[in-house]
Amino acid sequence: MSKSRAIYPGTFDPFTNGHLDVLERALNIFDEVIVVIAENSQKRALFTIEERNSMTKEVTKLYSGISVEVLHHGLLADYARQVGARAIVRGVRQVKDFEYEFQMSLLNRQLYPDVTTVFLMPNVKYTYVASSIIKEVAMLGGDVSNFVHPCVLEMMHKKREEYNQKK
Ligand code: PNS
Repeated sequence: MSKSRAIYPGTFDPFTNGHLDVLERALNIFDEVIVVIAENSQKRALFTIEERNSMTKEVTKLYSGISVEVLHHGLLADYARQVGARAIVRGVRQVKDFEYEFQMSLLNRQLYPDVTTVFLMPNVKYTYVASSIIKEVAMLGGDVSNFVHPCVLEMMHKKREEYNQKK
């Protein structure tokens, strides 16, 4: 029997416990999930793509069925086709996420008709956890240890120190 493979793309800047929750749910459905670290042209990332890759690898290292890859250039839909993914997993937290997700999923389907976007809701305790707000709180010295893995916390502390030294 062929294995079912899904991709879970995002900027993951940084990878949060909310992302991990969605990933665990995806693993209950698919045999294999590839986390794809990509750039979003609308966002300026705090972490480099290689830093995001290494933090996500560290957070997910104990899970079987998960791999982490970087999409350096090109379309996600082409990547999905290349790896034979049947689904694109996206986490949705609130109704306001939906318009953008709807647009992306229909575009990806237009580009690669064999792929279906699957929306998964994280545990309700993560509905307000977004990378953007975690970054803001952490860079201003707030405690975000409930929302990210210790290795991500450490990387955020380093970024804050670098930032403060430059000031
Ligand atoms: O976590 P994000 O920022 O919401 O993820 C958005 C992401 C990275 C999945 C999206 O920007 C993307 O797919 N980028 C890769 C390039 C691409 O295919 N863009 C067209 C999307 S329809």
